[in-house]
Amino acid sequence: MRTPPATVALRGRLLWFIDDPATAGEAASLRQIEDGIVVVADGIIRACGPADEILARAGDGLAIIDHRPHLVLPGLIDAHIHFPQTRAIAAYGAELLEWLERHVFPEELRYGESAHAEPAARFFLDELLANGTTTAAVFCSVHPQSAEALFAEAARRNLRLVAGKVMMDRNAPAALCDTPERGYEESAALIGRWHGRARLRYAISPRFAITSSPAQLEAAGALARAHPDCPVQTHLAESLAEIRAVRRLFAEAGDYTGVYERFGLLGPKSLLGHCIHMSEREWGALNRAGAVAVFCPTSNLFLGSGLFDLAQARDPARPVRVAVATDIGAGTSYSMLATMGEAYKVCRMRGQALDPLAAFHMMTRGNAMALGLGDRIGALEPGREADIVVLDPRATPAMAHRLERAGGIVDELFTLITLGDERAVRETYVMGVPSKPRDRRPRAA
Ligand code: GUN
Ligand code: ZN
Repeated sequence: MRTPPATVALRGRLLWFIDDPATAGEAASLRQIEDGIVVVADGIIRACGPADEILARAGDGLAIIDHRPHLVLPGLIDAHIHFPQTRAIAAYGAELLEWLERHVFPEELRYGESAHAEPAARFFLDELLANGTTTAAVFCSVHPQSAEALFAEAARRNLRLVAGKVMMDRNAPAALCDTPERGYEESAALIGRWHGRARLRYAISPRFAITSSPAQLEAAGALARAHPDCPVQTHLAESLAEIRAVRRLFAEAGDYTGVYERFGLLGPKSLLGHCIHMSEREWGALNRAGAVAVFCPTSNLFLGSGLFDLAQARDPARPVRVAVATDIGAGTSYSMLATMGEAYKVCRMRGQALDPLAAFHMMTRGNAMALGLGDRIGALEPGREADIVVLDPRATPAMAHRLERAGGIVDELFTLITLGDERAVRETYVMGVPSKPRDRRPRAA
Protein backbone atom coordinates (compact mmCIF):
# COMPACT_ATOMS: atom_id res chain seq x y z
CA MET A 1 0.00 0.00 0.00
CA ARG A 2 1.32 3.39 -0.97
CA THR A 3 1.47 6.00 1.78
CA PRO A 4 -0.46 9.13 0.91
CA PRO A 5 1.34 12.44 1.26
CA ALA A 6 -0.02 14.22 4.33
CA THR A 7 -1.88 16.84 2.30
CA VAL A 8 -2.83 17.06 -1.36
CA ALA A 9 -5.06 19.53 -3.12
CA LEU A 10 -6.85 18.60 -6.33
CA ARG A 11 -7.83 21.46 -8.58
CA GLY A 12 -10.38 21.12 -11.37
CA ARG A 13 -14.05 21.46 -12.23
CA LEU A 14 -15.70 19.97 -9.16
CA LEU A 15 -19.06 18.24 -9.33
CA TRP A 16 -21.01 16.24 -6.77
CA PHE A 17 -24.49 15.85 -5.30
CA ILE A 18 -25.95 16.55 -1.89
CA ASP A 19 -29.39 15.18 -2.78
CA ASP A 20 -31.13 13.22 -5.52
CA PRO A 21 -31.84 15.41 -8.57
CA ALA A 22 -34.65 13.02 -9.58
CA THR A 23 -36.65 13.99 -6.49
CA ALA A 24 -35.11 17.20 -5.12
CA GLY A 25 -34.46 18.96 -8.45
CA GLU A 26 -31.17 20.20 -9.86
CA ALA A 27 -30.70 23.35 -7.77
CA ALA A 28 -31.16 21.59 -4.44
CA SER A 29 -28.98 18.62 -5.34
CA LEU A 30 -26.08 19.56 -7.63
CA ARG A 31 -22.89 21.15 -6.36
CA GLN A 32 -20.70 22.44 -9.15
CA ILE A 33 -17.61 24.62 -8.85
CA GLU A 34 -16.04 25.56 -12.20
CA ASP A 35 -12.61 26.23 -10.66
CA GLY A 36 -12.48 24.42 -7.37
CA ILE A 37 -10.06 22.73 -5.03
CA VAL A 38 -10.52 19.63 -2.87
CA VAL A 39 -8.08 19.58 0.04
CA VAL A 40 -7.22 16.08 1.25
CA ALA A 41 -5.27 15.26 4.39
CA ASP A 42 -4.56 11.70 5.52
CA GLY A 43 -7.00 10.39 2.96
CA ILE A 44 -9.95 12.48 4.16
CA ILE A 45 -11.50 15.49 2.43
CA ARG A 46 -10.84 18.49 4.69
CA ALA A 47 -12.14 21.30 2.53
CA CYS A 48 -13.81 21.77 -0.81
CA GLY A 49 -14.61 25.07 -2.42
CA PRO A 50 -13.80 27.71 -5.03
CA ALA A 51 -10.06 27.83 -5.78
CA ASP A 52 -9.69 31.52 -4.96
CA GLU A 53 -11.23 31.03 -1.51
CA ILE A 54 -9.20 27.91 -0.68
CA LEU A 55 -5.98 29.53 -1.93
CA ALA A 56 -6.61 32.73 0.05
CA ARG A 57 -7.07 30.68 3.22
CA ALA A 58 -4.20 28.26 2.63
CA GLY A 59 -1.50 30.65 1.43
CA ASP A 60 1.38 29.20 -0.61
CA GLY A 61 1.80 26.00 1.32
CA LEU A 62 -0.67 23.89 -0.65
CA ALA A 63 0.74 21.20 -2.99
CA ILE A 64 -1.73 21.42 -5.86
CA ILE A 65 -2.33 18.80 -8.52
CA ASP A 66 -3.94 20.75 -11.31
CA HIS A 67 -6.54 18.73 -13.21
CA ARG A 68 -8.11 21.65 -15.06
CA PRO A 69 -9.99 21.54 -17.43
CA HIS A 70 -11.11 18.08 -16.34
CA LEU A 71 -13.98 17.17 -14.06
CA VAL A 72 -13.26 16.08 -10.50
CA LEU A 73 -16.02 13.89 -9.02
CA PRO A 74 -16.52 11.34 -6.27
CA GLY A 75 -15.20 7.91 -7.33
CA LEU A 76 -17.69 5.77 -9.23
CA ILE A 77 -19.43 2.92 -7.42
CA ASP A 78 -20.54 -0.41 -8.88
CA ALA A 79 -23.33 -1.99 -6.83
CA HIS A 80 -23.16 -5.56 -8.25
CA ILE A 81 -20.27 -7.35 -9.94
CA HIS A 82 -18.90 -10.91 -9.98
CA PHE A 83 -15.17 -11.26 -9.27
CA PRO A 84 -14.81 -14.80 -10.76
CA GLN A 85 -16.46 -13.88 -14.06
CA THR A 86 -13.78 -11.74 -15.69
CA ARG A 87 -13.18 -14.52 -18.21
CA ALA A 88 -16.89 -15.26 -18.67
CA ILE A 89 -17.60 -11.92 -20.34
CA ALA A 90 -18.52 -12.18 -24.01
CA ALA A 91 -19.74 -15.78 -23.72
CA TYR A 92 -21.90 -16.31 -26.77
CA GLY A 93 -25.54 -17.04 -27.12
CA ALA A 94 -27.52 -18.14 -24.07
CA GLU A 95 -30.15 -16.97 -21.63
CA LEU A 96 -29.42 -16.74 -17.91
CA LEU A 97 -29.77 -20.35 -16.69
CA GLU A 98 -27.99 -21.90 -19.66
CA TRP A 99 -25.32 -19.19 -19.56
CA LEU A 100 -24.65 -19.98 -15.89
CA GLU A 101 -24.30 -23.69 -16.59
CA ARG A 102 -22.32 -23.47 -19.80
CA HIS A 103 -20.03 -20.53 -19.12
CA VAL A 104 -20.09 -19.32 -15.54
CA PHE A 105 -19.98 -22.39 -13.34
CA PRO A 106 -16.98 -23.92 -15.18
CA GLU A 107 -15.11 -20.63 -14.77
CA GLU A 108 -16.01 -20.21 -11.08
CA LEU A 109 -14.71 -23.73 -10.37
CA ARG A 110 -11.16 -22.42 -10.81
CA TYR A 111 -11.42 -20.00 -7.89
CA GLY A 112 -10.96 -22.74 -5.31
CA GLU A 113 -7.22 -22.37 -5.93
CA SER A 114 -5.59 -19.37 -4.27
CA ALA A 115 -2.92 -19.51 -6.97
CA HIS A 116 -5.70 -18.73 -9.46
CA ALA A 117 -7.72 -16.33 -7.32
CA GLU A 118 -4.83 -14.10 -6.22
CA PRO A 119 -3.64 -12.86 -9.63
CA ALA A 120 -7.29 -12.69 -10.70
CA ALA A 121 -7.98 -10.33 -7.78
CA ARG A 122 -5.15 -8.07 -8.92
CA PHE A 123 -6.55 -7.99 -12.45
CA PHE A 124 -10.09 -7.38 -11.19
CA LEU A 125 -9.18 -4.44 -8.96
CA ASP A 126 -6.89 -2.95 -11.63
CA GLU A 127 -9.81 -3.06 -14.01
CA LEU A 128 -12.13 -1.30 -11.55
CA LEU A 129 -9.60 1.44 -10.82
CA ALA A 130 -8.78 1.90 -14.52
CA ASN A 131 -12.48 2.62 -14.99
CA GLY A 132 -12.70 5.09 -12.13
CA THR A 133 -14.59 2.67 -9.89
CA THR A 134 -13.39 3.05 -6.32
CA THR A 135 -15.99 0.91 -4.53
CA ALA A 136 -17.98 -2.14 -5.57
CA ALA A 137 -20.33 -4.73 -4.09
CA VAL A 138 -18.77 -7.99 -5.22
CA PHE A 139 -19.86 -11.62 -5.45
CA CYS A 140 -16.93 -14.03 -5.06
CA SER A 141 -17.14 -17.75 -5.89
CA VAL A 142 -18.38 -20.30 -3.35
CA HIS A 143 -14.79 -20.87 -2.20
CA PRO A 144 -13.67 -18.86 0.84
CA GLN A 145 -10.24 -18.67 -0.86
CA SER A 146 -11.73 -16.44 -3.54
CA ALA A 147 -13.09 -13.97 -0.98
CA GLU A 148 -9.86 -14.18 0.96
CA ALA A 149 -7.84 -13.28 -2.16
CA LEU A 150 -10.09 -10.37 -3.03
CA PHE A 151 -10.25 -8.91 0.48
CA ALA A 152 -6.48 -9.21 0.91
CA GLU A 153 -5.79 -7.42 -2.37
CA ALA A 154 -8.38 -4.71 -1.59
CA ALA A 155 -6.84 -4.20 1.86
CA ARG A 156 -3.39 -3.88 0.26
CA ARG A 157 -4.79 -1.09 -1.94
CA ASN A 158 -6.80 0.48 0.89
CA LEU A 159 -9.99 0.14 -1.16
CA ARG A 160 -13.48 0.43 0.23
CA LEU A 161 -15.09 -2.80 -0.88
CA VAL A 162 -18.17 -4.84 -0.01
CA ALA A 163 -17.85 -8.53 -0.89
CA GLY A 164 -18.83 -12.03 0.06
CA LYS A 165 -18.48 -15.64 -0.98
CA VAL A 166 -21.63 -16.95 -2.61
CA MET A 167 -23.62 -19.55 -0.71
CA MET A 168 -24.97 -22.25 -3.04
CA ASP A 169 -25.85 -25.85 -2.20
CA ARG A 170 -27.86 -27.22 -5.14
CA ASN A 171 -28.48 -27.05 -8.89
CA ALA A 172 -24.80 -26.50 -9.62
CA PRO A 173 -21.73 -28.75 -10.04
CA ALA A 174 -20.90 -30.56 -6.79
CA ALA A 175 -17.53 -28.82 -6.57
CA LEU A 176 -19.34 -25.46 -6.50
CA CYS A 177 -21.70 -26.44 -3.71
CA ASP A 178 -21.28 -25.88 -0.01
CA THR A 179 -23.92 -27.04 2.50
CA PRO A 180 -26.15 -24.98 4.77
CA GLU A 181 -23.74 -25.55 7.65
CA ARG A 182 -20.55 -25.03 5.67
CA GLY A 183 -21.90 -21.95 3.91
CA TYR A 184 -22.80 -20.50 7.31
CA GLU A 185 -19.50 -21.36 8.97
CA GLU A 186 -17.32 -20.19 6.11
CA SER A 187 -19.24 -16.93 5.75
CA ALA A 188 -19.12 -16.34 9.51
CA ALA A 189 -15.36 -16.94 9.53
CA LEU A 190 -14.88 -14.46 6.68
CA ILE A 191 -17.03 -11.92 8.54
CA GLY A 192 -14.79 -12.38 11.57
CA ARG A 193 -11.66 -11.90 9.51
CA TRP A 194 -12.65 -9.10 7.17
CA HIS A 195 -15.86 -7.26 8.07
CA GLY A 196 -14.89 -3.84 9.43
CA ARG A 197 -11.17 -4.44 8.83
CA ALA A 198 -9.48 -1.63 6.86
CA ARG A 199 -12.22 -0.29 4.57
CA LEU A 200 -13.89 -3.63 3.94
CA ARG A 201 -17.38 -4.92 4.63
CA TYR A 202 -18.77 -8.39 4.25
CA ALA A 203 -21.93 -9.03 2.24
CA ILE A 204 -23.86 -12.19 3.05
CA SER A 205 -24.35 -13.61 -0.46
CA PRO A 206 -26.85 -16.43 -1.07
CA ARG A 207 -26.43 -16.60 -4.86
CA PHE A 208 -30.16 -16.85 -5.71
CA ALA A 209 -33.15 -18.97 -4.79
CA ILE A 210 -32.43 -21.63 -7.43
CA THR A 211 -29.00 -22.56 -6.06
CA SER A 212 -29.92 -22.54 -2.37
CA SER A 213 -32.05 -25.10 -0.56
CA PRO A 214 -34.62 -23.83 1.95
CA ALA A 215 -32.21 -24.96 4.68
CA GLN A 216 -29.45 -22.81 3.21
CA LEU A 217 -31.69 -19.76 2.86
CA GLU A 218 -32.68 -20.34 6.49
CA ALA A 219 -28.98 -20.37 7.40
CA ALA A 220 -28.34 -17.20 5.38
CA GLY A 221 -31.22 -15.50 7.23
CA ALA A 222 -29.77 -16.63 10.57
CA LEU A 223 -26.40 -15.22 9.52
CA ALA A 224 -28.03 -11.90 8.60
CA ARG A 225 -29.73 -11.78 12.01
CA ALA A 226 -26.45 -12.58 13.76
CA HIS A 227 -24.65 -9.84 11.77
CA PRO A 228 -27.23 -7.11 11.27
CA ASP A 229 -24.66 -4.61 9.98
CA CYS A 230 -23.68 -6.87 7.06
CA PRO A 231 -25.47 -6.20 3.77
CA VAL A 232 -27.19 -9.12 2.04
CA GLN A 233 -26.77 -9.44 -1.73
CA THR A 234 -28.53 -11.79 -4.11
CA HIS A 235 -30.43 -11.92 -7.42
CA LEU A 236 -34.17 -11.46 -7.90
CA ALA A 237 -36.55 -11.80 -10.86
CA GLU A 238 -33.95 -11.55 -13.60
CA SER A 239 -35.34 -13.91 -16.24
CA LEU A 240 -38.70 -15.57 -16.91
CA ALA A 241 -37.19 -19.07 -16.97
CA GLU A 242 -35.56 -18.34 -13.60
CA ILE A 243 -38.90 -17.27 -12.13
CA ARG A 244 -40.60 -20.44 -13.40
CA ALA A 245 -37.87 -22.54 -11.77
CA VAL A 246 -38.25 -20.65 -8.47
CA ARG A 247 -42.01 -21.31 -8.58
CA ARG A 248 -41.34 -25.02 -8.97
CA LEU A 249 -38.74 -25.10 -6.19
CA PHE A 250 -40.73 -22.96 -3.73
CA ALA A 251 -44.31 -23.82 -4.67
CA GLU A 252 -45.58 -22.60 -1.29
CA ALA A 253 -44.16 -19.08 -1.72
CA GLY A 254 -46.60 -16.76 -3.47
CA ASP A 255 -43.85 -15.18 -5.57
CA TYR A 256 -40.06 -14.92 -5.90
CA THR A 257 -39.70 -11.99 -3.48
CA GLY A 258 -41.76 -13.96 -0.98
CA VAL A 259 -39.00 -16.59 -0.85
CA TYR A 260 -36.45 -14.08 0.41
CA GLU A 261 -39.01 -12.49 2.74
CA ARG A 262 -39.82 -15.83 4.31
CA PHE A 263 -36.18 -16.45 5.18
CA GLY A 264 -35.49 -12.99 6.62
CA LEU A 265 -33.39 -11.87 3.66
CA LEU A 266 -35.38 -8.79 2.74
CA GLY A 267 -34.44 -5.66 4.66
CA PRO A 268 -32.88 -2.22 4.32
CA LYS A 269 -29.45 -3.76 3.72
CA SER A 270 -30.65 -6.10 0.96
CA LEU A 271 -29.20 -5.53 -2.50
CA LEU A 272 -31.32 -7.36 -5.07
CA GLY A 273 -29.77 -7.70 -8.50
CA HIS A 274 -32.06 -7.14 -11.51
CA CYS A 275 -35.72 -7.00 -10.32
CA ILE A 276 -36.99 -6.99 -13.90
CA HIS A 277 -40.13 -9.13 -13.79
CA MET A 278 -41.84 -7.91 -10.64
CA SER A 279 -45.47 -7.78 -9.54
CA GLU A 280 -46.95 -4.81 -7.72
CA ARG A 281 -46.97 -6.92 -4.56
CA GLU A 282 -43.25 -7.52 -4.91
CA TRP A 283 -42.43 -3.84 -5.45
CA GLY A 284 -44.54 -3.06 -2.40
CA ALA A 285 -42.59 -5.61 -0.36
CA LEU A 286 -39.28 -4.03 -1.40
CA ASN A 287 -40.63 -0.60 -0.53
CA ARG A 288 -41.78 -1.70 2.94
CA ALA A 289 -38.47 -3.44 3.59
CA GLY A 290 -36.40 -0.47 2.37
CA ALA A 291 -34.53 -2.90 0.10
CA VAL A 292 -32.53 -1.89 -2.97
CA ALA A 293 -33.22 -3.00 -6.55
CA VAL A 294 -29.98 -3.09 -8.53
CA PHE A 295 -30.36 -2.12 -12.20
CA CYS A 296 -27.78 -3.90 -14.40
CA PRO A 297 -28.47 -2.62 -17.91
CA THR A 298 -25.65 -4.13 -20.00
CA SER A 299 -26.21 -7.53 -18.40
CA ASN A 300 -29.95 -7.44 -18.96
CA LEU A 301 -29.47 -6.57 -22.62
CA PHE A 302 -26.67 -9.09 -23.14
CA LEU A 303 -28.64 -12.05 -21.72
CA GLY A 304 -31.91 -10.77 -23.12
CA SER A 305 -33.36 -10.85 -19.62
CA GLY A 306 -35.67 -7.87 -20.03
CA LEU A 307 -35.89 -4.13 -19.54
CA PHE A 308 -35.70 -2.79 -15.99
CA ASP A 309 -38.62 -0.45 -15.30
CA LEU A 310 -37.11 2.52 -13.51
CA ALA A 311 -40.36 4.48 -13.36
CA GLN A 312 -42.20 1.52 -11.90
CA ALA A 313 -39.46 0.98 -9.33
CA ARG A 314 -39.64 4.61 -8.30
CA ASP A 315 -43.44 4.89 -8.30
CA PRO A 316 -43.98 7.74 -5.80
CA ALA A 317 -46.82 5.76 -4.21
CA ARG A 318 -44.27 3.12 -3.02
CA PRO A 319 -40.78 4.19 -4.14
CA VAL A 320 -38.07 1.55 -4.12
CA ARG A 321 -34.40 2.45 -3.71
CA VAL A 322 -32.47 1.81 -6.93
CA ALA A 323 -28.76 1.24 -7.48
CA VAL A 324 -26.86 0.65 -10.73
CA ALA A 325 -24.22 -1.88 -11.60
CA THR A 326 -22.16 -3.56 -14.31
CA ASP A 327 -22.92 -7.18 -13.32
CA ILE A 328 -19.74 -8.39 -15.01
CA GLY A 329 -19.58 -11.13 -16.45
CA ALA A 330 -23.14 -10.98 -17.87
CA GLY A 331 -22.46 -7.26 -18.08
CA THR A 332 -20.36 -6.19 -21.02
CA SER A 333 -18.37 -3.24 -19.67
CA TYR A 334 -16.44 -2.53 -16.49
CA SER A 335 -17.14 1.15 -17.05
CA MET A 336 -19.90 2.71 -14.98
CA LEU A 337 -19.99 5.47 -17.61
CA ALA A 338 -20.82 2.97 -20.38
CA THR A 339 -23.22 1.24 -17.99
CA MET A 340 -25.18 4.45 -17.49
CA GLY A 341 -25.19 5.01 -21.27
CA GLU A 342 -26.98 1.66 -21.61
CA ALA A 343 -29.26 2.47 -18.66
CA TYR A 344 -30.34 5.53 -20.58
CA LYS A 345 -31.20 3.38 -23.61
CA VAL A 346 -33.15 0.85 -21.52
CA CYS A 347 -35.18 3.75 -20.13
CA ARG A 348 -35.76 5.03 -23.67
CA MET A 349 -37.03 1.59 -24.70
CA ARG A 350 -39.66 2.00 -22.00
CA GLY A 351 -40.44 5.57 -23.05
CA GLN A 352 -38.78 6.92 -19.91
CA ALA A 353 -36.15 9.54 -19.24
CA LEU A 354 -32.85 9.24 -17.40
CA ASP A 355 -31.20 12.61 -17.44
CA PRO A 356 -27.41 12.96 -17.22
CA LEU A 357 -27.48 14.51 -13.76
CA ALA A 358 -29.61 11.66 -12.44
CA ALA A 359 -27.19 9.19 -14.06
CA PHE A 360 -24.16 10.74 -12.36
CA HIS A 361 -26.02 10.89 -9.07
CA MET A 362 -26.84 7.20 -9.33
CA MET A 363 -23.25 6.05 -9.83
CA THR A 364 -21.85 8.26 -7.05
CA ARG A 365 -23.97 9.38 -4.10
CA GLY A 366 -26.93 7.15 -5.03
CA ASN A 367 -24.90 3.95 -5.03
CA ALA A 368 -23.02 5.04 -1.90
CA MET A 369 -26.36 5.36 -0.08
CA ALA A 370 -27.61 2.08 -1.51
CA LEU A 371 -24.56 0.32 -0.06
CA GLY A 372 -25.04 2.04 3.31
CA LEU A 373 -21.88 4.07 2.77
CA GLY A 374 -23.41 7.49 2.15
CA ASP A 375 -21.63 8.96 5.17
CA ARG A 376 -18.21 7.78 3.94
CA ILE A 377 -18.05 8.12 0.16
CA GLY A 378 -19.98 9.43 -2.83
CA ALA A 379 -19.60 13.19 -2.31
CA LEU A 380 -16.88 15.83 -2.13
CA GLU A 381 -17.81 16.89 1.38
CA PRO A 382 -15.42 17.55 4.27
CA GLY A 383 -15.14 14.40 6.39
CA ARG A 384 -15.73 12.03 3.47
CA GLU A 385 -13.02 9.64 2.31
CA ALA A 386 -11.11 11.04 -0.66
CA ASP A 387 -12.07 8.48 -3.30
CA ILE A 388 -12.14 10.67 -6.37
CA VAL A 389 -12.20 10.29 -10.14
CA VAL A 390 -10.94 12.78 -12.72
CA LEU A 391 -12.87 12.62 -16.00
CA ASP A 392 -12.09 14.15 -19.37
CA PRO A 393 -15.29 14.72 -21.38
CA ARG A 394 -13.10 15.29 -24.48
CA ALA A 395 -11.01 12.15 -24.04
CA THR A 396 -11.41 10.75 -27.55
CA PRO A 397 -11.60 12.45 -30.95
CA ALA A 398 -15.29 11.52 -31.21
CA MET A 399 -16.04 13.01 -27.79
CA ALA A 400 -14.09 16.21 -28.45
CA HIS A 401 -15.73 16.52 -31.86
CA ARG A 402 -19.20 16.09 -30.38
CA LEU A 403 -18.51 18.71 -27.75
CA GLU A 404 -17.77 21.33 -30.37
CA ARG A 405 -21.56 21.61 -30.13
CA ALA A 406 -21.59 21.68 -26.34
CA GLY A 407 -24.44 23.24 -24.46
CA GLY A 408 -22.71 23.16 -21.07
CA ILE A 409 -22.05 20.70 -18.28
CA VAL A 410 -25.11 18.56 -18.98
CA ASP A 411 -23.91 17.97 -22.56
CA GLU A 412 -20.48 17.04 -21.24
CA LEU A 413 -21.95 14.55 -18.77
CA PHE A 414 -24.19 13.04 -21.42
CA THR A 415 -21.23 12.70 -23.80
CA LEU A 416 -19.31 10.95 -21.03
CA ILE A 417 -21.98 8.28 -20.55
CA THR A 418 -22.83 7.91 -24.23
CA LEU A 419 -19.32 7.82 -25.71
CA GLY A 420 -17.08 7.47 -22.67
CA ASP A 421 -15.38 4.58 -20.92
CA GLU A 422 -12.01 4.07 -19.25
CA ARG A 423 -10.38 6.31 -21.84
CA ALA A 424 -12.15 9.23 -20.16
CA VAL A 425 -10.62 8.43 -16.76
CA ARG A 426 -7.55 10.61 -16.24
CA GLU A 427 -6.93 9.60 -12.65
CA THR A 428 -8.51 7.56 -9.87
CA TYR A 429 -7.68 8.58 -6.30
CA VAL A 430 -8.09 6.13 -3.44
CA MET A 431 -8.09 8.07 -0.18
CA GLY A 432 -6.12 10.78 -1.91
CA VAL A 433 -3.57 8.44 -3.49
CA PRO A 434 -3.36 8.35 -7.31
CA SER A 435 -4.27 4.74 -8.11
CA LYS A 436 -5.17 4.45 -11.79
CA PRO A 437 -3.08 1.54 -13.09
CA ARG A 438 -0.65 2.60 -15.81
CA ASP A 439 1.05 0.71 -18.61
CA ARG A 440 -1.32 -2.23 -18.61
CA ARG A 441 -0.55 -4.04 -21.79
CA PRO A 442 -2.57 -7.05 -22.90
CA ARG A 443 -0.51 -10.19 -22.48
CA ALA A 444 0.51 -12.01 -25.62
CA ALA A 445 -1.52 -15.17 -26.21
N1 GUN B 1 -28.20 -15.22 -11.06
C1 GUN B 1 -27.53 -16.09 -10.27
N2 GUN B 1 -26.22 -16.02 -10.47
C2 GUN B 1 -26.02 -15.08 -11.40
C3 GUN B 1 -24.86 -14.56 -12.04
O1 GUN B 1 -23.73 -14.94 -11.77
N3 GUN B 1 -25.08 -13.58 -12.97
C4 GUN B 1 -26.31 -13.12 -13.27
N4 GUN B 1 -26.44 -12.16 -14.18
N5 GUN B 1 -27.41 -13.60 -12.69
C5 GUN B 1 -27.27 -14.58 -11.78
ZN1 ZN C 1 -25.11 -10.90 -10.77
